[in-house]
Amino acid sequence: MLWYVVAVVGQLMFALYITVLYGGGALRGDLTVFNAVMPKGYVQGDALGNATVFVHLALAVAIIIGGALQLIPWVRKHAPWLHRRVGRTYIMAAVLISVGGLYLVWVRGAVGDVTQHIASTLNASLIVSCGILAWRAARASDFDQHRRWALRFFLSASGVWFFRVGLMLWLLIFRRPAGFDAKTFEGPFLSTLAFAESIVPLAMLQLYLWAHETAGDRAQVIVAMLLVVLTCAMAVGIVGATLGMWLPKMR
Ligand code: HEM
Repeated sequence: MLWYVVAVVGQLMFALYITVLYGGGALRGDLTVFNAVMPKGYVQGDALGNATVFVHLALAVAIIIGGALQLIPWVRKHAPWLHRRVGRTYIMAAVLISVGGLYLVWVRGAVGDVTQHIASTLNASLIVSCGILAWRAARASDFDQHRRWALRFFLSASGVWFFRVGLMLWLLIFRRPAGFDAKTFEGPFLSTLAFAESIVPLAMLQLYLWAHETAGDRAQVIVAMLLVVLTCAMAVGIVGATLGMWLPKMR
């Protein structure tokens, strides 16, 4: 619960940033906002690429809000129709954003090196497969498997957010771009982080499920303590990302 509350607050800050910066710019007709962070956000004459970016950003907000809603137990218990409807939309939006993201990475060209692109491809594949498996388990009324795959889906779909939070935590610790070049956005730290954004949350979830379901008392305490430490680190990264990355772009 502690982890969920901290994560959702941080994800809503990310959604607010996307809405204010990109949504606000679009409403004002100011296309320069699309290049405020992305080198190739808006490129004159590239209608398909620009449309992919616009849809990507709109879906990003829907995914963040949808994901947060899906994990609230009250919604699942008292408004199952809402859970089902949001769930279908959430999965479709995540599949679309992943396919669009792959187009931006491999066809249009994005920041980062090929290792980071492979890591993004892993993230996109995990989003799509976990989403489909969560949906299939729900259709088969296998709610135990549905819960497991839905949690994996939520964490994979939060991968790009983990990347930003992890990056800001790292910068707060080292006070400089250690292990990467800030100009090219390449380097061993960023390549590792690009894989870690998918692998670490999923590994921690497996540990959590094991502790919750089969482990003894002592193992449960150790896993709970590890989760508290990771949640504190995540909270510091969220504060860093909010103050250093998102709020300055909202002004
Ligand atoms: C599923 C949740 C996702 C969210 C919430 C999300 C959100 C965003 C946001 C907000 C941006 C604009 C950059 C910024 O202002 O920080 C962006 C750009 C981008 N996203 Fe995503 N995204 C998601 C998934 C993906 C996936 C799965 C991929 C790759 C397969 C991807 C690839 C990209 C690329 C290539 C850019 C352009 C970055 C550049 O300038 O090179 N995204 N995304």
